[in-house]
This record gives sequence, C-alpha cells and structure tokens, in this order.
Amino acid sequence: MHGAVSDKSDTKTESSAVPGDSSDTTRYDFMVVSNRLPVDRCAPGEPGDDGSGWRRSPGGLVTALAPMMTRTDGAWVGWHGAADETVEPFSHGGMDLVPVQLSSDDVELYYEGFSNATLWPLYHDVIAPPEFHRTWWDAYRTVNRRFADAVVRTADEGATVWVQDYQLQLVPRMLRQARPDLKIGFFNHIPFPPPEIFAQLPWRQAIIDGLLGADLVGFQRSSDAGNFMRSARRFLGASVKQQQVHVKDTEGDLTHIARAQAFPISIDVQHITELARKPEIIERARQIRQDLGNPKTILLGVDRLDYTKGIGHRLKAYEELLNEGHLKVGDATLIQVASPSRERVEQYRLLREEVEGTVGHINGTYDTIENTAVRYLHHSYPVEEMVALYLAADVMLVTALRDGMNLVAKEYVTARTNNDGALVLSEFAGAADQLKQALLMNPHDIDGLKDAVMRAVKMSPKESARRMRAMRKQILDHDVDHWSADFLNALNEKVIRDDS
Ligand code: F6P
Repeated sequence: MHGAVSDKSDTKTESSAVPGDSSDTTRYDFMVVSNRLPVDRCAPGEPGDDGSGWRRSPGGLVTALAPMMTRTDGAWVGWHGAADETVEPFSHGGMDLVPVQLSSDDVELYYEGFSNATLWPLYHDVIAPPEFHRTWWDAYRTVNRRFADAVVRTADEGATVWVQDYQLQLVPRMLRQARPDLKIGFFNHIPFPPPEIFAQLPWRQAIIDGLLGADLVGFQRSSDAGNFMRSARRFLGASVKQQQVHVKDTEGDLTHIARAQAFPISIDVQHITELARKPEIIERARQIRQDLGNPKTILLGVDRLDYTKGIGHRLKAYEELLNEGHLKVGDATLIQVASPSRERVEQYRLLREEVEGTVGHINGTYDTIENTAVRYLHHSYPVEEMVALYLAADVMLVTALRDGMNLVAKEYVTARTNNDGALVLSEFAGAADQLKQALLMNPHDIDGLKDAVMRAVKMSPKESARRMRAMRKQILDHDVDHWSADFLNALNEKVIRDDS
C-alpha cells in the first residue's frame, strides 16, 4: 500500500531548501495534520505505559492513521492535549510528532467553542442549536494559522500534506497560499451539511474557500461530497463539473482543480480479528456474560457521550420493550458504555444529566435484586475490553441521529468471527452505506427502532450468519489501509480537466 508515499529511507531530509525558510529543521515529505496528536499523556505504571510518558491514544482517527504513520517516515502535526504547555517535537512508536501549542483561551474559543459548539452541531443536522460568536471565529482562524505555520516550517519541497477534520478547515487554503509546491489533501470525518443548513454559518464563504485550497477534499459519504459541491456553487459561485471544482483567483484565472469525493473510513481489521480470537479475550467475554447472570440476550451500546448518538432514543425504545413485556429483565440486559467527552461544553453536560437520569429511572423501575436492566458505564476502555464486550453482546445497537461513519459498527461486525450476533444500525450513520445487511432503521421512529431490536433479538442463527458474512466480507475487503491508500492514490493522480 501507500503507493503515494515514498520509502522510509528517503522521506526525511535535514535542512533541505524550503521556500522562504533556511533554518535547520527536519523536513518531511509526508505530513498528517489533525487537532490532536495520536498520543496521550501516560503516568508510570498506567496501561499502555512504555516509559516514554506517552501512549498511543484510542479513537477512530488514530486507529485509522497510526498503522500508516508507523510504516512511513512522515510526521504528525497536532495538539498534545495540555493547555498552556509547550512540548518540543518528539518521536513515539515510530512516528515523528510535531506538537502545536494551545492556550486555555484557544481551548475555550477554538476547540470547545467554534469547533464543538458551532461546527459540530451545525454539521450534525442542528440536533443541538449551533452558537455563532465572532470571538470564537477569530480564535478558529488564529489557531488554524498556527497549524498551517507548523507545516510550512517542516514540510519538504513538494511534500504531501493530509489535513484532517472540521477543526482545521482553513488550513488547506493557508498552506496553498504559503506553499504552492505542496500536494494538499483534506478529509472530513464528520458529515457535511446540506447548503440549506450550512447557509446559517456567518463565515460560510471563508470555510468553503479554506477547503478549496486542497487538491482533494474527501468525505465519508457521497451525499456529503454532493452537499459540499452544492455549497461551493451556491456560496462562492464556483464552477462545479462532475466531482471537480474549478478554483479561481481574484482575477478570475484558474489556480487549480479541487476534487470532492467519498472515501468511507474503516478500521484496523487485522488487529480487531486477532484480538477476537485470543483465548483470554474470549474468556473475558464469557466472564462478562456470567457476571451479568447469563441472560439470554445482551444488548450493547458503545458511544462517546454525544447528543448525536441517539442514546436517549435507544433507552426510550428499550424501556418501552420492557414495559410492554417484549423484553424481560433477567432474560435481557443492555450494556451502555458512554465514554466521557467534551465535558466542559454545556450541551454535553446537559446530555450526561439526561442520560443518567433516564438510566436511573429505568433501573429503578425494572431492576430486580439479582438483575439489572441497564449496566451503564461512564468510562473509556482499552480495545481489548471493547472486543470482549463485542463478543459478549448478541445485539449491537448503533442508533446515531447523525454520524460521519461510526466505526463501532464496523468493529462489532469484525469481532464476530463466528458470523453470529446482529447489528441494528441507524440509516443516518455513514456505515449504513456499506453495511447494507444490518437491520437498518430510523432512530426517530421509536416503533421502527423497537421492531428492529426485536427482530435482532429473535433472529435465527441462519439469518444472522447470512447477514454477518456479507458485512464481514465488505469490511475485510475495505479496511483502513484501503481507505488511506485510496485517498493518497487519488490525491497523487494527475487531474484530467473535465470540461464536458
Ligand atoms: O469524529 C470526529 C472526532 O473529532 C474524532 O476524530 C474523535 O475521535 C472524536 O471526534 C472526539 O474528538 P475530541 O475528543 O478530540 O473532541
């Protein structure tokens, strides 16, 4: 793979000539840029501790890119996670890391504010109302500039730079202005909204213009790419043909062609499969079932505690099924893992109160001395424990109201190496485009959601196996290596201008 990225031996050079800079810095010809670096701080003796003070962080983006970064000699630019702290460039697990510093004000205004209280709700169908503040926008621009500057300083002549996600949408344009020699890719991990919703953003033109600095703008679904191109046409008057946007300068001359295309992200299939076959993880799954009293059916939800995930809808459907006697505590248990997320953002605080209130109510009403209705876990777990949970669960519930992809759905299917179990999947998650044999449903339709849950609970082994086999094949054929290779190959393809 990585046809687009050259060998470990020749990617890194010392002090090569970079336009406008003659300092003595290491230069890279392949760079990934994301809000967070792919590592977390780690105290001595903590799980994952290798003595360096850092460990590779969990999460979709890191899972997706770490295998590729360790096999090339590129560098990753990102925030190290501690406000007001300066960290020098360092290496970890075979990756060169270039930290970007954020002050507490940056965290409040750029990360919690503009990224997660403006863009996040706006891009997720305005499930929560987005807030628009000029001070947040100013901070977003300033911080995007800082990330771009870190690349400008360290990218080799003609390097490939891959910018990740909604926190950094202005970086492609900033890079193109400072370093027209670079090959610039951007991938949006979350949905891109239809122009009718995007229109609300006071800075809509600047965001589209920022993204159009890239040669290739990748999205999870083709509907996201379509939304982006419609916005480029509507708000910038761009000429869009097929998947190509013709980008012009202020004089109206064509500067480059930016392509917009879907590249659905995936998971590290080999790693999940290996874990799912380990005797100690299989034993741990058995133990989990036993600790829950060996119910006939274990249902599982695994989410960041985020209002986009439809946790409330899931709990409502489950409670109604208990209330109507379709499910019975003792026979069925729901494990809900809700990992802590963005806890200083108001909407997330409110959500936690709501979810925990509902879980308390359900358990208070339906628990028996021996058995619980919902085993609620407000924790993050290492991947080994997650795979044990996937193996323990008969039914996986992914009820997102809107989700860029949802890698949990793909991990569950991958972990079911015996082709058993059932996946209930929201049609509003990107994964629904690939996992067509899941029980697809609209989570707003509570009766439809209940029907899907009961179909999953009662599914025959034969039907489970048929569906699982087809979904597993899809994921096995399209793992995260394919995702990154497809994107990078497309980025390095010569663009034939489509004027038809
Ligand atoms: O899905 C978008 C995303 O930014 C992921 O890349 C990340 O794992 C998750 O949301 C949580 O992000 P954070 O904790 O950095 O806000």
